[in-house]
Amino acid sequence: MSKLDSLFDNNRAWAAHVKTSDPDFFAKLAAQQNPEYLWIGCSDSRVPANQIVGLMPGEIFVHRNVANVVVHTDFNCLTVLQYAVDVLKVKHVIVVGHYGCGGIRSAYENHDNGLADNWLRNIKDVQHANYDLLEAVPDKESRLELLCELNVQTQVAHVCHTTIAQRAWTRGQSLAVHGWVYSLKDGLLKDLDCTVEGMEQIPDAYRVSR
Ligand code: CO
Repeated sequence: MSKLDSLFDNNRAWAAHVKTSDPDFFAKLAAQQNPEYLWIGCSDSRVPANQIVGLMPGEIFVHRNVANVVVHTDFNCLTVLQYAVDVLKVKHVIVVGHYGCGGIRSAYENHDNGLADNWLRNIKDVQHANYDLLEAVPDKESRLELLCELNVQTQVAHVCHTTIAQRAWTRGQSLAVHGWVYSLKDGLLKDLDCTVEGMEQIPDAYRVSR
């Protein structure tokens, strides 16, 4: 008996449940996916994309990594972004951070995590670039929450600075890049109102064409 039998049991029950409510569900999904959204979120097990926004398989394309970071040399994230934008033609890319993020805290508290610190260095860059804003917040937990938000805003900008997003806008494709933050405490999402929908919102230095 595998120790993971319970997961297979759960899977069989879930598949049967879905098939009962929509007998053609899996046949339709096997033929094609047509998601409108790309979710770029944290790997944290408490922040599962589909469940939080109540979407079924096939409705949201997902990329997750520690602390929801978008790095312009990360071919993994760029590949997901390009496939989502160029092939699937998603209309919305949503960077979703979350309060209580272990990656954010670890970077802020200067923990020594070994290899992972090279990844969390990206968070330290956000922290350092926003030093004055963060220092103006007196209590540490609120400062960490602000750093979660600043990280999302920064990663939204990074999505927009890619050739992928800019080429989509240049060819007239509808694409909005949003920044949200999720609260583990009440399960609710907050829009950080930093949506970018076109080239005119991109700083000149980052534009790939004029
Ligand atoms: Co996290």
